[in-house]
Amino acid sequence: MNLRWLGHSAFELISENGLNILIDPFIQANPACPLKINDVNPDVICITHGHADHFGDAIEIARNSDCVVISNYEISIYLQRHGINAIGINCGAYVTVDDVKIRMLDAKHSSSFDFEIGGGFAGNPGSFLFEFNDGFKVFHAGDTGLFSDMKFVIGEVYSPDVAILPIGNIFTMDPEEAAIAAGWINPKYVIPMHYNSFPSIRQEGQHFKRLVEKHAPDSEAYILNVLENKKF
Ligand code: NI
Ligand code: MN
Repeated sequence: MNLRWLGHSAFELISENGLNILIDPFIQANPACPLKINDVNPDVICITHGHADHFGDAIEIARNSDCVVISNYEISIYLQRHGINAIGINCGAYVTVDDVKIRMLDAKHSSSFDFEIGGGFAGNPGSFLFEFNDGFKVFHAGDTGLFSDMKFVIGEVYSPDVAILPIGNIFTMDPEEAAIAAGWINPKYVIPMHYNSFPSIRQEGQHFKRLVEKHAPDSEAYILNVLENKKF
């Protein structure tokens, strides 16, 4: 499995079979992402919640690449109205696409179409667990605060090998809460996201790394640069 950070919460995962999964496709307006929407060509887009910095360019990219979008039910209805092939699932459910099992799990946040005039309810926010053919599991937390099911559901039931966690503060966990979350989830590797894309969520990656050493001694933090690849 190959993982690439596109800045903010956008990640690309590529399975052994070559299935290209794009999570939270915030590309064009993402100050941290140097790519254009034509530079990505996913088979699957996964959207954690409705906010513009996660929903991003889902519609244009889905049209260009003719891919399927997996999101919560409310966002899937919205996408279907725009002619997109969308599968709506809810917390706890999974769908299998090619060689990857994609499960939606919980997040403590909000979800609205904040880019539309008047907003609008965009279902509940979620996170995703990706399970690959060899059993390797990657957890993408979406936007979230710390909550106890990170220990009891995500950690004990699903035990991901990699946890991608937001550390920016203001909209999500701060670095210390994220390090505590890492201790509860107890993955082999932790990757921080949702920081340094905007001035209000500026954080120091090395500071997070030290907090992970303190709160999650069995996990190793990888502080990625944007567009850096990590092979697992
Ligand atoms: Ni959000
Ligand atoms: Mn966000």
